[in-house]
Amino acid sequence: MKVIRSVICATGSYLPQKIVTNDDLALRVDTSDEWITQRSGIRKRHMVGEGETTTDLAIHAARAALASGAIDPATIDGIIVATTTPDQVFPSVAVKVQAALGCPPKMAFDIQAVCAGFVYALSTASHFIAASQAKRILVIGAESMSSLLDWNDRTTCVLFGDGAGAVVLEAADGNGDINDRGILSTHLYADGNFASILQTNAHDKIEMQGKDVFKYAVNHMAAIVDEVLQKNNITSDQIDWLIPHQANSRIIQATAEKLNMSMERVVMTVADHANTSAASIPLALDHAARAGKLKPGQLILFEALGAGLSWGALLVRY
Ligand code: UT7
Repeated sequence: MKVIRSVICATGSYLPQKIVTNDDLALRVDTSDEWITQRSGIRKRHMVGEGETTTDLAIHAARAALASGAIDPATIDGIIVATTTPDQVFPSVAVKVQAALGCPPKMAFDIQAVCAGFVYALSTASHFIAASQAKRILVIGAESMSSLLDWNDRTTCVLFGDGAGAVVLEAADGNGDINDRGILSTHLYADGNFASILQTNAHDKIEMQGKDVFKYAVNHMAAIVDEVLQKNNITSDQIDWLIPHQANSRIIQATAEKLNMSMERVVMTVADHANTSAASIPLALDHAARAGKLKPGQLILFEALGAGLSWGALLVRY
């Protein structure tokens, strides 16, 4: 059966220049490099400088993606930005990116699904393409999580970072089977009954019941990767790369174990980037792409869970 697939034809990313190490944090709050590294796998994170915004990060990442694919901004049919930290309540980051890049006045909007935001945005874009409503969509995950940190809460302020990643999705003809290039299946979930275990407080700062989130992340990721395998009628040894949301190396290891995948097939950037929410997957993807790890035709599994709870996964042939 002929179908329209969405192929990842370019990637880009951007990290703000300011680097904050665990030792830097230990000067500010009662913590240590040893605790942060052991519990989360994080060693450092990037943070925006004075006056630098989520939109600035998004524009840098988008420009890098367009440059890597030699793509003319005039050919972009739509822009979707996954972010929880827009510079303003409105207008969206997406419209500002559109204006800055000189893209045509086609659709542009933000999606807010926190750490699952990029998986939600990529799924949404692929459905627009499958419905023939767009041919080339720029999908960005961009966050300034540092703006939401409570520096009196050592249980959360050590875990997050800032950054942005972008991909260009392009329509391509497929046969409707597992050999097609592009997004092969999308799996999205949310359960608002768990909204209070990870949220912002009255001062717009993060509060999290870390142990609960950890438990749900491990369980939901184990269930959703099973669902992806079943839906596509594949076994985990057919997956070339796992590119998970980068919140905690122990959550990532648990998912890899569930898939029986060696860590060599898992893209891990949490040590250097920390948790950049919706930006973490496209950052990890671009880093793996630029390191020459990803080859056209390889199968990649993306998965993420975050506040909401919201979670999801995508199977993509690169
Ligand atoms: O991206 C959205 C999804 N978010 C996540 O996936 C995060 C999920 N959760 C986690 O990653 C982990 O639960 C954390 C990294 C947040 C915490 O790890 P944990 O192994 O669950 O530690 P814990 O919360 O049980 O804390 C253990 C101890 C506590 O001390 P006591 O009560 O045992 O004396 C904490 O007070 O570590 C203490 N602690 C710290 N110590 C030094 C908590 N934060 C810190 C800190 N530095 N920054």
